[in-house]
Amino acid sequence: MTSAKDYINTHKDRFLEELFELLRLPSVSADSAFKKDVIATAELVAKQLEKAGCTQVKIYPTAGNPIVYGETIINPDLPTVLVYGHYDVQPADPLELWESDAFDPVIKKTPLHPDGAIFARGACDDKGQMYMHVKALEFMTQTGQLPCNVKFMIEGEEEVGSKNLGIFVRENRALLKNDIILISDTGMIANDIPSITTGLRGLSYMEVAVTGPNRDLHSGLYGGAVANPINILTQMIASLMDENNHITIPGFYDDVLQLSTEEREAMAQAPFSLEEYCQALDIEAVHGEAGYTTNERNSIRPTLDVNGIWGGYTGEGSKTVIPSQAFAKISMRLVPNQDWEKISALFAEHFNAIAPKGVKVEVTTHHGGQSYVTPIDHPGYRAAAAAYTDTFGVAPIPQRGGGSIPIVALFETELDSKTILMGFGLDSDAIHSPNEHFGLFNYLKGIETIPRFFHHFAAIAQK
Ligand code: BES
Ligand code: MN
Ligand code: MN
Repeated sequence: MTSAKDYINTHKDRFLEELFELLRLPSVSADSAFKKDVIATAELVAKQLEKAGCTQVKIYPTAGNPIVYGETIINPDLPTVLVYGHYDVQPADPLELWESDAFDPVIKKTPLHPDGAIFARGACDDKGQMYMHVKALEFMTQTGQLPCNVKFMIEGEEEVGSKNLGIFVRENRALLKNDIILISDTGMIANDIPSITTGLRGLSYMEVAVTGPNRDLHSGLYGGAVANPINILTQMIASLMDENNHITIPGFYDDVLQLSTEEREAMAQAPFSLEEYCQALDIEAVHGEAGYTTNERNSIRPTLDVNGIWGGYTGEGSKTVIPSQAFAKISMRLVPNQDWEKISALFAEHFNAIAPKGVKVEVTTHHGGQSYVTPIDHPGYRAAAAAYTDTFGVAPIPQRGGGSIPIVALFETELDSKTILMGFGLDSDAIHSPNEHFGLFNYLKGIETIPRFFHHFAAIAQK
């Protein structure tokens, strides 16, 4: 029987070339200017799924970007794995900070990727990681080693909140029926320290507008006498956190699930160097909520961050003006038991309440999602742990993640399935940043490890 290693060695140049073709398409979901590239990407994913052995490949249109679906049902009595991924990417800007074109993939060596890494927007998040599953399926079907059924659902709106996918999932419960959901859209600790993400944070994404006078004013004629919306907005934002970096919105922490001392001690066992963490980011010190470690702050604790703030004059030179309006985009990462709609409402109520009389405040909710946790005694987790042990030679470390994949919690409520997050990226791979990359080692190791998951899960789930 052909081993995955041998199959990968034989076909790796093609595996890379196919991924490059996918990466050359700028499927930016946030910007409607890329709509035709988004469609072309969905079509390419569908074509490749078909080639890899999926039947029933279909592109489902939605009110937004299309969803690509495909399946290989070898025997309805066998368990079914549903693979989810996304073919959309974050905007590439600021473009001038890319050392090579964001949509012209190249391979370069880095200290953490001595064998080379693929540099392109989406290389790691999530085209590269999604495509590992397509190539793992090819290996299993071509060598007669697919041990159970598989369904693929690859969407094009993950980076903008997966709203239309939520509708699709609710309307297609029978089509999507499965025994486990498998996703590679997270990371691991290091190439020699595999880990499995056991949790995702929820998210509540808000936008605020502060309006003062009905027009921009001369800052000499009116300055000091009327509220400046930017001054007010920045004061309001600053007041959302106290000196311990606790969030001050009343009720914000009410539902937060506290981890036990044992759970926190277990978390602290994971290898981590604060010095290297700071060095990698060129910062002198970390910053965050008092009473929690860095790894707790970025995974099991909720946060509030301003993602963007604008208003007034930002052009060349100077202009003396009191702007009429100021705006900010503010997101909150949420943890188990916090409900994103409740948090959005608490935010809106508080933000309105703290506004002084001289301005009007408007708060809108962009999107959100609930947090998610995978228990490590779940059959899917056990199969994933066995798979990593097979290919890395060491057992993976369970680790709660700080990012969000909003659809995962909905999978649990709508499809009644647990999700296993088998991610192969590194935190340093610069996802969402300029010079995003994905290690060749990681790409190929993913293709090797995924079939082992299928093998172990089919065996465990049959019992
Ligand atoms: N793949 C990421 C999420 C992720 C990355 C989770 C690394 C854990 C570790 C995903 O594409 C993403 O960026 N999600 C957004 C969600 C949002 C736009 C609704 C996020 O986390 O900001
Ligand atoms: Mn992603
Ligand atoms: Mn992302």
